[in-house]
Amino acid sequence: MINSKEILDRVNFLVEKHQPLVASDPYRLYYHLMPSVGLLNDPNGFVYYRGEYHIFYQWNPFATAHGSKFWGHSVSTDLVHWKEAPIILAPGEWYDKNGCYSGSAVVFEDQMYVFYTGNVKDENGKRDSYQCLAVSKDGIHFEKKGPVINVPDGYTAHFRDPKVFRKNNKWYMVLGAQTDAGTGEAVYYTSNNLYDWNFHGTLAGSGKNGLGAFGYMWECPDFFELGGTDILMVCPQGIEAKGYEYQNVFQTGYFSGKINDREEIFQHGPFREMDRGFDFYAPQTTSGPNGRRLVFGWMGNAEDENSQQPTTKYEWVHALTLPRELKWKNGKLLQHPVEELKSLRGKEIKFENTRLEKHKALRFQELVFEMIVDFNSFDTDCLTIEIGESKLIYYRKEQLFTFQRKHFSKPGLMEVRHCKLKELRSIHIFKDTSSIELFLNNGEEVFTSRVFDDNNVILLHIEDGSATLNIQKWDLKRV
Ligand code: FRU
Repeated sequence: MINSKEILDRVNFLVEKHQPLVASDPYRLYYHLMPSVGLLNDPNGFVYYRGEYHIFYQWNPFATAHGSKFWGHSVSTDLVHWKEAPIILAPGEWYDKNGCYSGSAVVFEDQMYVFYTGNVKDENGKRDSYQCLAVSKDGIHFEKKGPVINVPDGYTAHFRDPKVFRKNNKWYMVLGAQTDAGTGEAVYYTSNNLYDWNFHGTLAGSGKNGLGAFGYMWECPDFFELGGTDILMVCPQGIEAKGYEYQNVFQTGYFSGKINDREEIFQHGPFREMDRGFDFYAPQTTSGPNGRRLVFGWMGNAEDENSQQPTTKYEWVHALTLPRELKWKNGKLLQHPVEELKSLRGKEIKFENTRLEKHKALRFQELVFEMIVDFNSFDTDCLTIEIGESKLIYYRKEQLFTFQRKHFSKPGLMEVRHCKLKELRSIHIFKDTSSIELFLNNGEEVFTSRVFDDNNVILLHIEDGSATLNIQKWDLKRV
């Protein structure tokens, strides 16, 4: 067994050693959750416990690359100001020796129960996985209880990311899985005591419920009810790009429908992508104290080898998205930045009914800001908002919104993402030093992306016709 005190000492040593370098990175974010050193990926265990929000995250403190994963931990009362807490899970036991992979947390009888995937590899690289439990009486110290579920027959060791929730007076666990036939699924279990779990098989998957072949593995499922609808949020791997859709290496989206518990089926509609940007993956939700459905995503995605992010020179990489609230409206999942983010607002600039015409651009300068643009009239076929070296363009005739950013590591190259959009009514922008989150038409479509630009000019301009708009813009404070 690996001595976890020794490992944690090594982590603390690294954090301290690299702290000055990390802090000197001009792309270090002002108001997003980031690793103090190394690589962060999925949000885990998002939960409200004893008056505080807890967010955990996949963390490799030893390198700016994937590897052995720990659970980092941050705590907040307002979702905006976070205090870093000690690591709660370090790999080391026989059942998690190669990584404490993603999972979730629930509160039961005033204790926090954390479920995660123990990732194990033998000397030949052969993988095993176990769904494991750890319990805490204070939300800070956790006791590992070991595996509660082994991989069932019919599935490969790509069986992970338990999301536990309560429904119909029992506990449910949904998991991402790969069948022996090499297809992706979400499966589920139920339990009365959080220790003993009954397997119910497929919740949704390739070839089920009208869905054709749909990827070779599904990761990081979440399941919740919103506005009377059951939603399975999930990240399928192995979906081919199609038109403007499925452009990232791995996808994030949801199925909506109704679970029929007795017949053990989830009747659902088609898969819809949740985000149109470059960097969004593995979102996880929790229910806040007043029933709000809150979500964090990983502001990253699997990388291709050519696009190392510039922050790796400063010994850190990736961040979580802003916390968002989910709403269900007209058969669609909407995302809104949480209200609490208003506490970051500093100096405000406001324009009302400003008219844009060709050769009459609006210009600002700011690196970190929030901006809301509402259109009163939209009589142009091409509207552009430049933010640093990134460009947001709406083509009215084509009913197309596009986002372009500078390629991280190929000089002179731009990359682009699109979504079809019938009309553009409003854009809500959160810009941090090296990220942009765009909420279009009140959260109907969202683009989340990292950007590494060299200027901080903001320009709004049109090619023809005119547009009138209201603009509110705030400086945002560093937390
Ligand atoms: C998703 C994922 C999960 C896994 C974790 C490991 O990004 O691959 O399926 O549990 O990351 O860090």
